[in-house]
Amino acid sequence: MDSKGRVNLFYRYILMMASVFVLIGIIVLPLVEEEELFFVLIALIIGFFVLIVLIYHMFENYVRPIRSSINVANELVKGNYNARTYVKPQGEAQQLSNAINVLARNLQEMSIQEKMQGSQWKTVLNNMESGLMLIDERGYVHLINRKFLQMFDKKSTDYIGFLYYEVLTDETIHKVVQETFLYEEKITGSITTSINGETHYIEVVGAPVINDLKDLKGAVLVFHDISDLKRVEEMRKDFVANVSHELKTPITSIRGFSETLLEDENADVEIQRQFLTIILKESTRLQSLVHDLLELSKIEKAEMQLSTKLIEVNDWLQSSLTLIEEQVSKKSLHFYKAIDPDISFYGDPDRLQQVVLNLMYNAINYTPEEGSIYLRIYETEDNIIIEVEDTGMGIPEEAKQRIFERFYRVDRARSRNTGGTGLGLAIVKHILEAHQASINVTSEVGNGSCFTVKIPKKW
Ligand SMILES: Nc1ncnc2c1ncn2[C@@H]1O[C@H](COP(=O)(O)OP(=O)(O)O)[C@@H](O)[C@H]1O
Ligand SMILES: [Mg+2]
Repeated sequence: MDSKGRVNLFYRYILMMASVFVLIGIIVLPLVEEEELFFVLIALIIGFFVLIVLIYHMFENYVRPIRSSINVANELVKGNYNARTYVKPQGEAQQLSNAINVLARNLQEMSIQEKMQGSQWKTVLNNMESGLMLIDERGYVHLINRKFLQMFDKKSTDYIGFLYYEVLTDETIHKVVQETFLYEEKITGSITTSINGETHYIEVVGAPVINDLKDLKGAVLVFHDISDLKRVEEMRKDFVANVSHELKTPITSIRGFSETLLEDENADVEIQRQFLTIILKESTRLQSLVHDLLELSKIEKAEMQLSTKLIEVNDWLQSSLTLIEEQVSKKSLHFYKAIDPDISFYGDPDRLQQVVLNLMYNAINYTPEEGSIYLRIYETEDNIIIEVEDTGMGIPEEAKQRIFERFYRVDRARSRNTGGTGLGLAIVKHILEAHQASINVTSEVGNGSCFTVKIPKKW
């Protein structure tokens, strides 16, 4: 009730009291003797005013606080937890008002906490790395999170309130839901979906939702994107297949030639020599293959365990240069080097030596006789640059990125003839990554290639 209504009520009571007193006056006054009339009148008037004061007091201490409490209670019912009633410092109604205010305050706190919890849940659900869907016991979709929508590229209105089999087309998901309901246990399945034109592998896990009374209340479906895992698995399978294939060729040929030698005891000495040479060459290839594989797995495992030292370029390259010059002279190539002798930098000397050797051996192997090979080492403000250039056969544009993959060769037969394993550049790339260094290749088929290594001075 507003204050106007309250005032009206107060005046109505006054009016009622005044009427009662007037009535009493009308009844009593004629019975009173004339000399007592004055006193009775005064008594009546005093009585009237005392009653007004009493009524006013009652209003202030009881009616008003109770009305205010009723108002606040009504506001609370409506959900307005900010409402508070006025508390008079004394009086009987004070306890009521206090209680109402405490109630309002508690309700307000509870509603704030509820809101906070609600938004926390929402945040957690929407920032999960897995998609999520909640289905009730009748199969209606109640909740989905943001990741789920990303996975299936739709809006939440496409799902909420629908039966799961109306909105999810994949049979595997239907089976997962049905079995989750049937067996009341965790069921797993996997599906594929296309996200931005890319195929993704999704693992679907259905878990039953069971309440305290052990009644089945629905199911939660969780969707994990396992594409990366799949990719790693594929790569591992490919790798094993490649390794087996690479090993098979030399083993077959070693076995074949040794069998022939054993069978034909009277073979010509020259032929025997020829076969034994092949066997030696193939076993050397086998050896370098195993060596490179071991090397690669060592680098991959202990990527960060480089034994970093200060490398003085001149000393560091001496032994490698001897090896390189030996190979160069065997093939009558021209070798030019421009190495800044004062350079020093931090890195793993043995591993980086391997980088230079692998690049130089490639240059030697893929450059025909009388060609030229260049080795340049210099420094810029931030980097040490190692350049290996040749005037060889070059690398086709489409192969430039792939040559760093394991076992990739532009020309398989040629690489094999030179004793290549197809792992040299993969090893180079790994070593450089561990040094946070980069490698670039420019090349023109028929004209030559240039590999540029950039090692940061600070890393
Ligand atoms: N300097 C180069 N000139 C031409 N082709 C090259 C050069 N370096 C590498 N390649 C190509 O890259 C492939 C991969 O090199 P690498 O990993 O060292 O393996 P491998 O030399 O054992 O074949 C080689 O097979 C070759 O086709
Ligand atoms: Mg090589």
